[in-house]
Amino acid sequence: MPTWDPEIYQRYARYRDRPALDLLLQVPHDLEPREIWDLGCGTGEQAALLAARHPLARVHGLDSSPDMLAQARKRVAAVDWIEGDIAAFAPEVPPDLIFTNAALQWLGGHQALIPHLAASLAPDGVFACQMPMAYESAHHAILRETAEQGPWAGLTRQARRINPTPPTEAYYDWLAPTCDAIDIWSTTYLHALAGEDPVVEWMRGTALRPYLDALAGDAQLEPFLAAFRARIAQAFPPRADGVTLFPFSRLFILARRR
Ligand SMILES: C[S@@+](CC[C@H](N)C(=O)[O-])C[C@H]1O[C@@H](n2cnc3c(N)ncnc32)[C@H](O)[C@@H]1O
Repeated sequence: MPTWDPEIYQRYARYRDRPALDLLLQVPHDLEPREIWDLGCGTGEQAALLAARHPLARVHGLDSSPDMLAQARKRVAAVDWIEGDIAAFAPEVPPDLIFTNAALQWLGGHQALIPHLAASLAPDGVFACQMPMAYESAHHAILRETAEQGPWAGLTRQARRINPTPPTEAYYDWLAPTCDAIDIWSTTYLHALAGEDPVVEWMRGTALRPYLDALAGDAQLEPFLAAFRARIAQAFPPRADGVTLFPFSRLFILARRR
């Protein structure tokens, strides 16, 4: 399990919030949830929003990272923050809403995980999920290639654990046995980033973390970062005004338990 960097993660909050809000807007307005779970809640922005939007609900924010949860706990007391693994999700009370933003891509086995999460919902409950289509993106391909092709390849093997996004249709098939109103779509955001090496800085908050952890304290860390920086700079050159354009595709999934 990688460590997470809440400070860097927060720096790009404006861009990361957008898909979460786009997902939140699609949660059916007639839903009056009493039990809400935010799986992989991170620093807790969305759980806090959900608690504000549904003041009568019990909101639980689950995350495996103590660092992320420490930030979340400072944010709002009205959420039950829990350290745990989404893979072992077994709520005592069936949720009326499972919200999970930018987290499930870290878990394998979606063929079993997605039906399990859907089956755990209360009748009429909503599953709302957003995941970056990370594996397929240029910046992740560059990260994998860089990690595979240097003297650091052995040390970073464990870090290369993001899987290809399953075919979109598979999510429909996994949800259809228990859910109606299945709505699946993808969006590519063209983020306009400022500053030096902004794509690498963005990735330091998430995708790069497992690699940085794997190389922590090793002489290969800086050479690996320098090689990665150089390849990313070539793939994402700044525009004439200094802005770096960073395309980022995300998959959205909504479904309602029968
Ligand atoms: C990219 S962050 C997203 C955080 C938050 N949902 C947001 O949108 O800002 C992914 C989060 O998922 C958590 N995570 C990854 N794998 C997990 C797992 N198996 N169980 C629980 N949390 C996990 C990480 O600790 C991290 O906080």
